[in-house]
Amino acid sequence: MAIEIEAARGVGAYVRNINLAQIESRDVEQLRSALGEYGVLFFRDQNLSPEQHITLAESFGKININRFFTAVDGYPSIAQVLKEPSHQKNVGRFWHTDHSYDQIPALGSILVARELPSKGGDTVFRNMATAYETLPDEMKQRILPLKALHSSRYVFGAEAYTDNDLQGRLGNTELATQDAIHPLVIQHPISKKSVLYVNPQFTVGIEGLDKAEGDELLESLYAHAMQEQFEHRFQWRDGSVVFWDNRASWHQALNDYPGERRLMHRITVEGCELEAATVSWVDFFKHEEKSPVDFMKFDRTEEPQIRDI
Ligand code: SIN
Repeated sequence: MAIEIEAARGVGAYVRNINLAQIESRDVEQLRSALGEYGVLFFRDQNLSPEQHITLAESFGKININRFFTAVDGYPSIAQVLKEPSHQKNVGRFWHTDHSYDQIPALGSILVARELPSKGGDTVFRNMATAYETLPDEMKQRILPLKALHSSRYVFGAEAYTDNDLQGRLGNTELATQDAIHPLVIQHPISKKSVLYVNPQFTVGIEGLDKAEGDELLESLYAHAMQEQFEHRFQWRDGSVVFWDNRASWHQALNDYPGERRLMHRITVEGCELEAATVSWVDFFKHEEKSPVDFMKFDRTEEPQIRDI
């Protein structure tokens, strides 16, 4: 039976008629392109052993072993995302996209539900391609040439741990030394869409702007991205699996199940270097208010330049 892919409201798509434990190479290519297009793929009723989870992830690329997460016993390539009844904080509770602090950020992660609370513990996702697309033209033109600085230091470094609650779940604080500069608007490596690539947890500033100006710009971009129209809230059930693309979406794990256990297994897949989005001819001519006749006269053998705008 052919794989069925249905767009979800806000971001992502539900994928049906697929058994992730027995995936074929043509399925991998279909899922990879759907991941680029929709940003997140949601699956129900799967039954993946840890070994099958690893095989699935490896069919999309090399596994990235997270420096900071405690691994699942016996499976060093699977990160444990755990909250025990005695814990106050959950992992991933702030809006973020994983690994933006790396020079080559991870493609995405495949998260498998292992033990769920009786209610709550949803994960919420946001669409960073439509967040960019719906920005006002002047804002797009302002941010296209900019680059942002990302860091792991303030989230995974020693100063981030003010109590013992996360101890045993996250660690290796001395390894939190990654800083990376990426274009503020990237061209998505799969879909080629322009995507807003900053996030509240790991982005620490904008190259060439002082802190106040950088923060003000970031806050206004975050306020825009937080609109409900870009959001999809995923309710986990036994057998649910989610594959998100870090270059196309943000996510946040809700912490609304006090006194209950939630255990997820996460495998992260390596990505590629990120390139800046280019100015499209449509944007360029819109900005220049040129007519189609001007367009025909224009030399289109070269890409339009941001400086032209
Ligand atoms: C994460 O941010 O990787 C965890 C997401 C979740 O537990 O839902």
